[in-house]
Amino acid sequence: MGRLVVVSNRVPSSKERVQPAGGLTVGLKDAIKGEPSLWFGWSGNAQGKDDEPRPVIEEQGGTTYATIDLTPAQHKGFYQGFSNGILWPVCHYRLALMSYSREELQTYLEVNALFARVLKPLLKPDDVIWVQDYQLFTLGEALRELGVRNRIGFFLHIPFPPPGLFGALPGAEQLLRAIGRYDVIGMQTEEDARNINASFEPLGIAVRAGVFPIGIDPQSFLRDAISGGRSAQVKRFDQAVGDRPLIIGVDRLDYSKGLPERFHGFDRLLRRFPQHRGKVSFLQVAPVSRGEVQQYRRLRRELDELAGRINGDWAEMDWTPLRYITRAVPRKVLASVHRRANIGLVTPLRDGMNLVAKEYVAAQDPEDPGVLVLSRFAGAAPELPDALLVNPYDPDEIAEALDQALGMSLSERKRRWSRMHEAVTSTTAATWARDFLQVLRGAPEAA
Ligand code: ADP
Ligand code: G6P
Repeated sequence: MGRLVVVSNRVPSSKERVQPAGGLTVGLKDAIKGEPSLWFGWSGNAQGKDDEPRPVIEEQGGTTYATIDLTPAQHKGFYQGFSNGILWPVCHYRLALMSYSREELQTYLEVNALFARVLKPLLKPDDVIWVQDYQLFTLGEALRELGVRNRIGFFLHIPFPPPGLFGALPGAEQLLRAIGRYDVIGMQTEEDARNINASFEPLGIAVRAGVFPIGIDPQSFLRDAISGGRSAQVKRFDQAVGDRPLIIGVDRLDYSKGLPERFHGFDRLLRRFPQHRGKVSFLQVAPVSRGEVQQYRRLRRELDELAGRINGDWAEMDWTPLRYITRAVPRKVLASVHRRANIGLVTPLRDGMNLVAKEYVAAQDPEDPGVLVLSRFAGAAPELPDALLVNPYDPDEIAEALDQALGMSLSERKRRWSRMHEAVTSTTAATWARDFLQVLRGAPEAA
């Protein structure tokens, strides 16, 4: 069997390769475990000097990592601009947040073509190539134009919007035709697959996207949740919270995650259900992400102000209602706080999958599990109908679900959790990769 070649814009840093952080990297680490593989992508360095860089090659844990730097102009046009200022909002149904620029589309196409040129000499004839996510929509086409004949698959980690919405993006047809060049296309949910297939139809693109929901490694997350409880940081936190009920939220600081609406929902809980005042506290961990992009900076200011106001309105001398942290927290600490929390509050306005929801379920104690309050617009929602599903745009619905969760009986919590746990352990990172690669390896060879 040929090697697996994974290509993603974000490649785990050398520290993360030992203990990977984040859903995409965890899933992929599992995918490449035990087979010879090459992982190619951006080094994370945006100070590159050379328009035509040479890859830095490193071996770690049986995988070869090949990475290149981007120049400041490439980083601005390709990463900040077209990928995260244009494609990200459009794919998350937020057309009004898109600031379109034809120059940025050009840089995006150039960087995809650059990835193809640098990758090609590293390829062997029987490799299968698996390209990840929206930053690399046009990489497959660029490889084909260079004469690469290997099987090339593509997986989209984020949502794909309905044709009318995606079609509003200038250059949409060009992108769709490029995506149509992949041999196998994978989406997170039925809805995403329906949407992209409906966009393909009028263009006569023959390939059909399939559904391959991504998961986590639930056993390893549970181990972290149990062992993390021994850390000094967690012990201090436990002391500060005492036996009061705890709500947890963990998200990159991103406008797709519905954070202002969530803060309003918590505020509404305290306003409408006074019995929870002075008791329940809400810990939101939201590490800053893509901080150079304007829409993200604006969100950060909004949340700073909201958090200050909520605490100003409700805090007591001996009770802090909202704890808000914008730094990264060690994975084990996070896992064990999930286990301690009575409610996992996961309310994105749109999300490809949302692994945090699955992590919350995996971390629970079966004898006393917490309740997941989940947005119906997360990709995880169809798999987890036993969560309390809410419309994340409605702070009252969030408040009512939180109140319901805080009062839920042990037997109902156990009943809901065991069904969610079944879902989280049957669709994992490993099954996701296995299922996709099986289809890709079985695809007919490129003509
Ligand atoms: P997204 O891919 O949009 O960031 P997901 O919920 O699918 O959203 O995946 C996020 C991943 O990053 C999860 O595995 C989560 O545990 C991890 N993560 C999020 N915030 C932090 C943090 N502050 N510290 C460490 N890991 C984090
Ligand atoms: C989401 C995207 C990934 C991306 C990650 C972190 O999970 O689907 O493609 O790598 O967010 O974002 P960043 O811009 O830091 O790579």
